[in-house]
Amino acid sequence: MDKLLINGGVSLNGEIRIAGAKNSALPILAATLLTPETVQVCNLPHLFDITTMIELLGCMGVQPVIDEKLNVEVNSSTIKHFSAPYELVKTMRASILVLGPLLTRFGEAEVALPGGCAIGSRPVNLHISALQAMGADVVVVDGYIRASVNGKLKGAHIFMDLVTVTGTENVMMAATLAEGQTIIDNAAREPEVVDLANCLIRMGADINGQGTDTIIINGVSELKGCSYSVMPDRIETGTYLIAAAATRGHIKVKDTRPDILESVLSKLEQAGADIKVGDDWIDLDMHGQRPKAVSLRTAPYPAFPTDMQAQFTALNSVAIGAGAITETVFENRFMHVHEMNRMGASIKVEGNTVFVEGVESLKGAPVMATDLRASASLIIAGLVSENETTVDRIYHIDRGYECIEEKLQLLGAKIRRIPS
Ligand code: EPZ
Repeated sequence: MDKLLINGGVSLNGEIRIAGAKNSALPILAATLLTPETVQVCNLPHLFDITTMIELLGCMGVQPVIDEKLNVEVNSSTIKHFSAPYELVKTMRASILVLGPLLTRFGEAEVALPGGCAIGSRPVNLHISALQAMGADVVVVDGYIRASVNGKLKGAHIFMDLVTVTGTENVMMAATLAEGQTIIDNAAREPEVVDLANCLIRMGADINGQGTDTIIINGVSELKGCSYSVMPDRIETGTYLIAAAATRGHIKVKDTRPDILESVLSKLEQAGADIKVGDDWIDLDMHGQRPKAVSLRTAPYPAFPTDMQAQFTALNSVAIGAGAITETVFENRFMHVHEMNRMGASIKVEGNTVFVEGVESLKGAPVMATDLRASASLIIAGLVSENETTVDRIYHIDRGYECIEEKLQLLGAKIRRIPS
């Protein structure tokens, strides 16, 4: 397993481009199953998870055509069966996103039950109960979700007990070809849900309310092919901005969208960052100053995103003062804390809150990544440490960050990948 070797103490300076959003690309690739016509998906990020989703479509008999820019053309008319095997689902929970499309287009679907992961038990009960409310017969047996419906799914009024991003996405996709109207109350408002809805509308779906907590879908008889470009990745954007703030640097991120990062930009300004924005770029300048600690609480969009909690914990660990960070979305998303404390951070965990007392700098150490965003936070910790840090198990990082060491090298970081 590769490792990343980091020599810290360098301020990040320069410009990078942001890739397409992983969490938008995954549901949009699943949505290609909703039509027999060709869908071209552009601006896909070069990530393991994208490869896994393409492999998943392939194992069902759908052979995507990939061009040199990793734009993908998918035509699902060659599909052979409707099953997502455990071998693939265990490597990527987002495989659950084929459940709704397969069920509503073909009347049947079999998807391995995604196990839990480092950050929590990650149940999918809300996906299942919503599809049952639409008339599907769903059983969970031998570790598989087996769903079927005679004829078409029926539109229903669904209240989601919890805000669930992929749950909202699965139901929205299932509802596009159902008979009648589906209303999703307490729907997720994340920009990635909006991006999926906009792609479905381009395919001919009748959807309103995306981006609010009530999404209304009127079923249509069929969807058409289209070409769609995935939105920029707001989590990748925020990760680099936080790394620049932690290292007292000055960077500009391009091909991104500042309008969907308001909660993050506001916290970075509280940390002392000087931020300028344009239509598709963000410039962050610390003027060489050490960041100030901030307190925050994660929650569903538009609140502060849970996917940037670990990165801000790394920033707070070297900030002036103390900050409290509360995680309200997942039950076990502090795995990075123990590793940071081994690097000299002063972080206490109390329930779902971490209390961080900033120190001037950390001490490099060998650390281990446990999940995607924790890995990014350990890289940030390495960037603000004296001497050398090695981050192990970085297959986590390759799932969600395109060419991370190349982009950080472009910004002046002393980081390289070493085979272990
Ligand atoms: C999506 O995961 C993202 N993944 C996650 O990003 C992100 O952290 C999360 O949303 C929250 O924003 C993708 O979009 C592929 P949820 P998802 O369903 O949909 C509970 C990353 O790093 N819940 O919104 O799986 C659940 O346990 C990843 O890119 C149920 O109880 O998350 C959690 O506590 C990590 N039952 C809460 O809801 C259900 O049926 C929110 O989970 C579904 C969810």
